[in-house]
Amino acid sequence: ETPAEKFQRQHMDTEHSTASSSNYCNLMMKARDMTSGRCKPLNTFIHEPKSVVDAVCHQENVTCKNGRTNCYKSNSRLSITNCRQTGASKYPNCQYETSNLNKQIIVACEGQYVPVHFDAYV
Ligand code: ATR
Repeated sequence: ETPAEKFQRQHMDTEHSTASSSNYCNLMMKARDMTSGRCKPLNTFIHEPKSVVDAVCHQENVTCKNGRTNCYKSNSRLSITNCRQTGASKYPNCQYETSNLNKQIIVACEGQYVPVHFDAYV
């Protein structure tokens, strides 16, 4: 799996325009293999066409949380779902809180301007 493919698996859900239920993150975090070995504590899904998300790599260049300079902020707000592990969640029963949001996203891009990491939403 390439970094670009990993981004698609962990962060892209174009099929749904928003999280369909409060169970969305519980189901999707497992379906996208982020609950094997450990529960990934925080993850964001993006409900937009791939073309829209790829285009962010050509939008506003910003500094990433880790200090690298390969991050880009979307010009517009996008439909996203934030998944946050609940306090009571214990591996292997990973439990998440599902939050639908419309926010500008910040992604890291590499190589031929493809997203490889979800940095933040603002
Ligand atoms: P995510 O951060 O999207 O939840 P991840 O599994 O942590 O997903 O993978 C992030 C990927 O983006 C890694 O391949 C990472 O490369 P390194 O392991 O070499 O850091 C890559 N990446 C590229 N630029 C990055 C950046 N500015 N910040 C964080 N990760 C970056």
